[in-house]
Amino acid sequence: MRLIRACDYDDMSRKAANALSAQVILKPNSVLGLATGSTPLGMYRQLIEWYEKGDIDFSEVTTVNLDEYIGLAPDHPQSYRRFMDDNFFRHINIKPENTHVPNGLEADEFKESARYEALIYSCGGIDMQLLGIGHNGHIGFNEPGAAFEKNTHRVPLTEATINANKRFFPDGDVPREAYSMGIRSIMQARRILVIVSGKGKAEIVKQAFFGAVTPHVPASVLQLHNNVTLVGDEEALSLYD
Ligand code: F6R
Repeated sequence: MRLIRACDYDDMSRKAANALSAQVILKPNSVLGLATGSTPLGMYRQLIEWYEKGDIDFSEVTTVNLDEYIGLAPDHPQSYRRFMDDNFFRHINIKPENTHVPNGLEADEFKESARYEALIYSCGGIDMQLLGIGHNGHIGFNEPGAAFEKNTHRVPLTEATINANKRFFPDGDVPREAYSMGIRSIMQARRILVIVSGKGKAEIVKQAFFGAVTPHVPASVLQLHNNVTLVGDEEALSLYD
């Protein structure tokens, strides 16, 4: 694993944006696996800024996102499709038809899972997969205990996640399930870029990258991948050495 140390969130965002833009500059038709959440926001802002300056071109890039809530329409304010459109895609020159997020409105889980895997395959596989890590070590929506050999699949959300999400759904209609790339889909990416920031992530970073490889800490599986770059700020890496 390659470790890139950053001093704070902004520095982490810049360094991660550098890694992602190097990928796109070296291979303009890259397939990028993308993530939502708070950690990548600064990185997306940085990439938008470099795009506006003319330093990076997304016209040939394809993206596949990790996950989406089941039951949410693409334009729902809390859908991951909407998050990606608002925070990244509509600010750059990526072709909308080249951006992919699981279809939260597809009720047939087997159909949607197979469609998404076939899509990744038909794009030629993921060149670089971006990942954040949950406090419990989840990657995508693969929670502790998730089988390492799963491809894209339907995931029942944990009670903790459902409760944490309640504040975003004033009508009380909180999603209870999601589609997520599985650990196997993630591990098939050629490169993996993990970003972590803040004290709150220090303990899980230590467990994931220094502890045993176990389904109890899903991110620990990344120790078995041969091309992982971890970009973390001082706080997130504070228990690392
Ligand atoms: C996001 C995703 C999640 C997040 C993780 C960290 O698409 O799949 O696994 O990467 O929950 O979230 P933040 O960055 O908000 O700490």
